[in-house]
Amino acid sequence: MACETKSWLVMFLVFLVANCMQHCVHGVSQVPCLFIFGDSMSDSGNNNELPTTSKSNFRPYGIDFPLGPTGRYTNGRTEIDIITQFLGFEKFIPPFANTSGSDILKGVNYASGGSGIRNETGWHYGAAIGLGLQLANHRVIVSEIATKLGSPDLARQYLEKCLYYVNIGSNDYMGNYFLPPFYPTSTIYTIEEFTQVLIEELSLNLQALHDIGARKYALAGLGLIGCTPGMVSAHGTNGSCAEEQNLAAFNFNNKLKARVDQFNNDFYYANSKFIFINTQALAIELRDKYGFPVPETPCCLPGLTGECVPDQEPCYNRNDYVFFDAFHPTEQWNLLNALTSYNSTTNSAFTYPMDIKHLVDHEIKMELELTNESTSQLSATE
Ligand SMILES: *[C@@H]1O[C@H](CO)[C@@H](O)[C@H](O)[C@H]1NC(C)=O
Ligand SMILES: *[C@@H]1O[C@H](CO)[C@@H](O)[C@H](O)[C@H]1NC(C)=O
Ligand SMILES: *[C@@H]1O[C@H](CO)[C@@H](O)[C@H](O)[C@H]1NC(C)=O
Ligand SMILES: *[C@@H]1O[C@H](CO)[C@@H](O)[C@H](O)[C@H]1NC(C)=O
Ligand SMILES: *[C@@H]1O[C@H](CO)[C@@H](O)[C@H](O)[C@H]1NC(C)=O
Repeated sequence: MACETKSWLVMFLVFLVANCMQHCVHGVSQVPCLFIFGDSMSDSGNNNELPTTSKSNFRPYGIDFPLGPTGRYTNGRTEIDIITQFLGFEKFIPPFANTSGSDILKGVNYASGGSGIRNETGWHYGAAIGLGLQLANHRVIVSEIATKLGSPDLARQYLEKCLYYVNIGSNDYMGNYFLPPFYPTSTIYTIEEFTQVLIEELSLNLQALHDIGARKYALAGLGLIGCTPGMVSAHGTNGSCAEEQNLAAFNFNNKLKARVDQFNNDFYYANSKFIFINTQALAIELRDKYGFPVPETPCCLPGLTGECVPDQEPCYNRNDYVFFDAFHPTEQWNLLNALTSYNSTTNSAFTYPMDIKHLVDHEIKMELELTNESTSQLSATE
């Protein structure tokens, strides 16, 4: 395994160097801006001052992050942090809660730990910034960008060039539907109905985002939520993965993937592109193919909510672990996911219909096509 870890590291370094040769020289990122919507998988500090017990701005979180604990729910970088670097950004995208000293033209991160597609999700922790509120926060940023650029039209043109990363929905199951003492949803909906409700609400938000300029979307599906140590102990039989929860996530993913087809069709002439990242297929691949010496036990000592108990020493060999706490993966796991999400040319089972690398290239190609089309139309009418 040590050998495997090393070869991954080498691949990663080769990758970084290759990536840098293309982009770092001029300090130009592959997209000018990146906006991030999601939950604790992507949060980089939005919950720090929020009245909630779902927080991670204390040690041992951030033990492998240059700035220490920041509100990231892992030992180092989140998956989207790493993708941000692959895209050639020099800095991480700042959290909405603190954009001071940052250039919001490069993007903002709205993700909030515990949050979900539904507004009420995660509120048993105190508060959470659900997807609808994240969109409201984005509108605030959009108007600030309009002020900076001089007009809403210029802002719109600019915002069409950005990448929009959306990774949300796990908590609607883990911190809502499958938590009947706190939430009534499982008495109102069957699991199939609930999944459909989530997909409809997510779709409405994605369309609302489209109305305010989003064109390039990377939509992450849900992972093996039933295999997180927290779900295994709450719902698993004999220490195995909670299959009902994994199945719910699997069905959510299938519906989301179908929506990606539908959106790519419906919004084709708006020069839009959606991709679906199959987090679950990826997790199965990573788990089975690459193996992690410690696939089930959290690296830190989790407290009652599943997050690390503050100031306890975490495991030493963090790259051997899948989970940092009872719900959140280690940086090593995030890295492998980020690599495949960004670059999986060879396998559409993971990124559909293309990977992030091709998504960020895509609009340029389409713009060329459209330019050629309109040129030929012009010459035809002349
Ligand atoms: C993408 O991955 C393939 C192998 O999986 C590798 O050969 C290729 O160099 C990678 N591309 C980039 C841009 O890193
Ligand atoms: C806000 O962000 C700036 C720049 O990244 C940082 O220097 C500052 O410490 C942050 N403030 C808080 C309260 O986190
Ligand atoms: C979101 O849900 C919480 C908890 O149910 C509630 O207090 C809050 O007012 C809701 N916010 C919106 C915008 O609906
Ligand atoms: C759980 O483990 C016990 C003891 O190993 C075994 O007797 C039992 O059949 C198992 N239950 C299930 C559902 O696998
Ligand atoms: C657009 O037209 C130019 C010149 O005719 C051609 O070189 C280029 O390949 C075309 N681009 C695409 C994307 O079709």
